[in-house]
Amino acid sequence: MHQAIAATRTEMADPGATLVVGNCVDVMRSWSPGIIHLTVTSPPYDKLRDYKGYEFPFEEIADELYRVTAPGGVLVWVVGDRIKNGRSLTSFRQAIYFQEIGFSAHDVMIYQKKNTPFMRSNAYTNAYEMMFIMSKGKPATFHPLKEPTQRQGLEMLPHNKLPDGINKKTLKELKKEKTRTNIWAYAVGLGGTTRDRIAFQHPAVFPEKLAEDHILSWSNPGDLVLDPMCGSGTTGKMALLNDRQFIGIDVSAEYIEIARQRLGESGLPAIVRRDS
Ligand SMILES: C[S@@+](CC[C@H](N)C(=O)[O-])C[C@H]1O[C@@H](n2cnc3c(N)ncnc32)[C@H](O)[C@@H]1O
Repeated sequence: MHQAIAATRTEMADPGATLVVGNCVDVMRSWSPGIIHLTVTSPPYDKLRDYKGYEFPFEEIADELYRVTAPGGVLVWVVGDRIKNGRSLTSFRQAIYFQEIGFSAHDVMIYQKKNTPFMRSNAYTNAYEMMFIMSKGKPATFHPLKEPTQRQGLEMLPHNKLPDGINKKTLKELKKEKTRTNIWAYAVGLGGTTRDRIAFQHPAVFPEKLAEDHILSWSNPGDLVLDPMCGSGTTGKMALLNDRQFIGIDVSAEYIEIARQRLGESGLPAIVRRDS
């Protein structure tokens, strides 16, 4: 691990998370290259929410993320699009930029919201965000998550079809478990996103289970996980609960304090630094 991170931990036997207040570009610039195994993050997108003041220099953030990612490391970029004045697809422009600077597109996944507030009067309710899985070379780690094979709607299971559309296996022949699809669905709101009431002092928390599922898929115990725009600390909580190391950055001191308190309520120690 880089000295700048390690130095913050020397006084604690089991240091848990490091939370840094600052612009993530400046913070990451102070690190050595190739130290991060996995980043799970969600940027502020298209001014969809009102944060406590922020800067979002996307290209500089992307450049730094590429530099600090270890060979074989993975970046999970969770992002939704807003449609305004007939313009959209910021998320895809960001994914294309990631490819241009050297990341490989490993997968384009969807985070489906099982329940979602009505958002527009003249269009269907938006119920998903993109999850771009970008890697530095081939991902060094992949632990595919499994789920029970559904016993209903078999005609809907794509892996159960031959190219001509005829079912390949009978119900009895199907395995009990199969690797998940790349569409992941989560309930949102209190009890779905998290049970931690304090987290909702932040306006845009993503589900704990989403963060955990990526952490389990793309990293190993002991790995260093980053969220450069960590908000209420969701990625950090799930990283620590799964024996990973964590460093989180947020430009807002208020959000970092929410993250610190939230981790503390789960018995997870965190130290806070200010980027100077
Ligand atoms: C979508 S929220 C992240 C929420 C988080 N995933 C959670 O579950 O709580 C985006 C965060 O990015 C932070 N942010 C925006 N620009 C930043 C920057 N340049 N450096 C660090 N943090 C930034 C905002 O303050 C906000 O908390």
